[in-house]
Amino acid sequence: MSHEKKGSRYWDDRFSKQAYAYGEAPNDFLVWAAPQVKKGKVISLSEGEGRNAVYLAQLGFEVTAVDFSSVGLAKAQALAEKHQVKIECVLADLNDLQLEPNTWDVVVSVFSQPESPIRQRLNAQLASSLKMGGALIHESKVSEDEDASGKYPGIALLQREIAPLHVSFAHQGSRILAEGSYHVGSHTTAQILAFRV
Ligand SMILES: C[S@@+](CC[C@H](N)C(=O)[O-])C[C@H]1O[C@@H](n2cnc3c(N)ncnc32)[C@H](O)[C@@H]1O
Repeated sequence: MSHEKKGSRYWDDRFSKQAYAYGEAPNDFLVWAAPQVKKGKVISLSEGEGRNAVYLAQLGFEVTAVDFSSVGLAKAQALAEKHQVKIECVLADLNDLQLEPNTWDVVVSVFSQPESPIRQRLNAQLASSLKMGGALIHESKVSEDEDASGKYPGIALLQREIAPLHVSFAHQGSRILAEGSYHVGSHTTAQILAFRV
């Protein structure tokens, strides 16, 4: 398996086709978790083409979608228009993003898999960036090879990184993904729902 660094041009290229690479439907763990969190201001990290942002906006959340792919965010805006909802798209590299204190009711991180120093820094900012009672909704791929301590960590490492959030649900296991043409078939993922208490 190759884990070379993938810059914004790689993702612009992936998103340049008309079809949505991960589909237009939201991630199913997000669909399960969303009714359990306070409806308010959400930031979605590495939102890509907007499937999760648009779903949350349809539920009444105020959504900010961050990604470094301008092509992905253009499709996110188009999907929002198609469904007649508003989302704010921010073109930014997570490497430059600061999660400001007491700002968010929800942080969504669904298949946002930046290099590990970026993930570690953002995870360390999570607890203070969430408002009291705010939530993290996280799903990511887990690698079973040498990259398990890199971009694709297991759930134990992720839980240590997001401390002191209170974890209400954490699961690592193999599941079938059916998200567009790129997330298909059996994958090991880590799913976390955690709260600032
Ligand atoms: C596997 S896709 C997932 C997209 C979306 N979260 C979803 O589940 O449909 C990974 C996304 O991460 C974005 N990304 C990767 N590294 C990034 C970085 N350093 N800063 C901002 N976005 C990044 C890519 O542009 C891409 O949209």
